[in-house]
Amino acid sequence: MDLGLEGKSAIVTGGSMGIGAAIALALAREGSDVAVNYRRHDAAAKEVVRKVEELGRRGLAIKADVAGYADAQNMVQTVVKEFGRLDIMVCNAGINWDGVIWKMTEEQWDTVINVNLKGCFNYNKAAAMVFKDQKGGKIVNISSINGLRGKFAQANYSASKGGEIAMSKTLARELGKFNVNVNVVAPGMVMTDMARNIPPEFLNKAVDETMLGRIASAEDCADVVVFLCSDRARHITGEVIKVDGGQYI
Ligand SMILES: NC(=O)c1ccc[n+]([C@@H]2O[C@H](COP(=O)([O-])OP(=O)(O)OC[C@H]3O[C@@H](n4cnc5c(N)ncnc54)[C@H](OP(=O)(O)O)[C@@H]3O)[C@@H](O)[C@H]2O)c1
Repeated sequence: MDLGLEGKSAIVTGGSMGIGAAIALALAREGSDVAVNYRRHDAAAKEVVRKVEELGRRGLAIKADVAGYADAQNMVQTVVKEFGRLDIMVCNAGINWDGVIWKMTEEQWDTVINVNLKGCFNYNKAAAMVFKDQKGGKIVNISSINGLRGKFAQANYSASKGGEIAMSKTLARELGKFNVNVNVVAPGMVMTDMARNIPPEFLNKAVDETMLGRIASAEDCADVVVFLCSDRARHITGEVIKVDGGQYI
C-alpha cells in the first residue's frame, strides 16, 4: 500500500532512541525527510540521521529540551528552511520519574509535566502555526495507556499523558478546518530503555496483562504512527489508538 509519504518532511521529538528513533526510520523508509529532536544522546541522534540518509532521505538532528517553546519554534523554522516544508509533527519525547503521591516531590511533578505535556504543547503549537497557514498537516502525539487508566506511582506521568490526550482532542477541533489531523498513539509497555529500567516483576506483570502475550516493540508503535501520518488516515482525527496487545481493554 502506498502511504503517499514520498517527499514529505517530518519532525520527531525524542528521536534519538526508543520509539522515536523507530518512528523516524519508519517515516524515512516511506520517503519522508526527517528531523529528530533529542536532549542528551548526541551519538545516538547522529546515528539515526545517518540511517535516515542511508535510506536516501534528508536527515537532521537538533539538540534541545522540549520543555522550551523558543527551541520548538526554532526547530520548526530550521526544518522549513532546510527541507523546504513541514508536513508531519510527531511529539514523542517523554520521561517518567515515578513515586507514590505521598513521596512525590514538587520537582518530580514539575519535571515530568514540563517535558511530557508542555513539550507536547510547544511542538504542537509551533507546527500548528505552519500547518494553519499552509492548510494541511499531521500531528501525532505519543501518550500511554497510563494516561487513560492511571497507574500506581505515576500521578505525574499519567496526568501528563492524559493531558496530551485532552489537548490533542482540542487541537483536532481547532485545526480540523485547516485540514490538519491530530491523533494520539497510546502504547502499553514497549521494550525500550524506559521499560528496561523497571523491575522484572513489573515487566512480567505487563506481559501477563496483554492478550497477545508479549510486550510491544518500538516498531509496533512506529507502524501505527506512520499510518496516521499518511493520507490513508485522512479522515481520522481526534482519535486515540492504543498499541498495547490488549493490555488495557
Ligand atoms: N517504553 C514504554 O513502555 C512506553 C509506554 C507508553 C508510552 N511511552 C511513551 O513513548 C515515548 C517514547 O518512550 P521510549 O520508551 O522510546 O523512551 P526512551 O527510550 O527513554 O527515549 C526517550 C526519547 O525522548 C528524548 N527525551 C527525553 N527527554 C527529553 C527532553 N526533555 N527533550 C528532548 N528530548 C527528550 C530522549 O532523548 P535523549 O535521551 O537523547 O535526551 C529519547 O530520544 C514517551 O513519550 C513515553 O512516555 C513509552
